[in-house]
Amino acid sequence: MADPLIVTIDGPAGVGKSTMAKRLARALSIPYLDTGAMFRAVALRLGDGAWERGEADLASALAGMEFSLSGVGEDSVLSLDGAPIGDEVRTEQVAMWASNLATLPVVRASLKAAQQTLGKRFSLVAEGRDMGSVVFPTARRKFFLDATADERARRRLRQLADMGKTADFDDLREQIARRDHQDRNRAEAPLRPAPDAVIIDTTSLAIDEVFAALVRGVRG
Ligand code: DC
Repeated sequence: MADPLIVTIDGPAGVGKSTMAKRLARALSIPYLDTGAMFRAVALRLGDGAWERGEADLASALAGMEFSLSGVGEDSVLSLDGAPIGDEVRTEQVAMWASNLATLPVVRASLKAAQQTLGKRFSLVAEGRDMGSVVFPTARRKFFLDATADERARRRLRQLADMGKTADFDDLREQIARRDHQDRNRAEAPLRPAPDAVIIDTTSLAIDEVFAALVRGVRG
């Protein structure tokens, strides 16, 4: 069998990585891997304050967790211990717990191993913070999407409105900025583009324009 095709999409919270990863994975007929969902699922499973537990305790809790993946494109299903990871992980509180856990080398090492195992079994569009820089350094194509915090907060507000929910713009912007700061400044695998990543500033681009840039990048 040919080596799996790995395409990576990294970038900050709320930049539209998942939307793009699903679409690109559909176009390539391969699964997409939402690695933020892995950190979120672990965070939800371990609960509030888990980042203060000792390293050995966390290592043994993580050793008992198994991720699996099925499906293609937007129908990809990522599961933890056989249960699909769903909307229960999509709260700003769980996101912040995930970001806290993601500063810990023991957590990163465990999830990196799980991500690389999936990348040996499947071709993937893998999205997260360190896919191109750390987890899949030899990926065929690497992208880094960026946008101002204001624009990302506006997009999140629109997304929530589409789901019939309301939120305060300043609160959203604050939450995004706080998580960005922690994700960019941690010692282990901080959010930054791989040297060979194609950087796309999406601030003033429409979704279709970003997608077209990704497709050009994959074909080029
Ligand atoms: O992409 P997301 O918002 O679902 O990610 C939630 C948190 O998980 C994010 O703030 C930092 C962490 N994360 C990470 O450190 N590395 C990844 N590859 C993906 C997510």
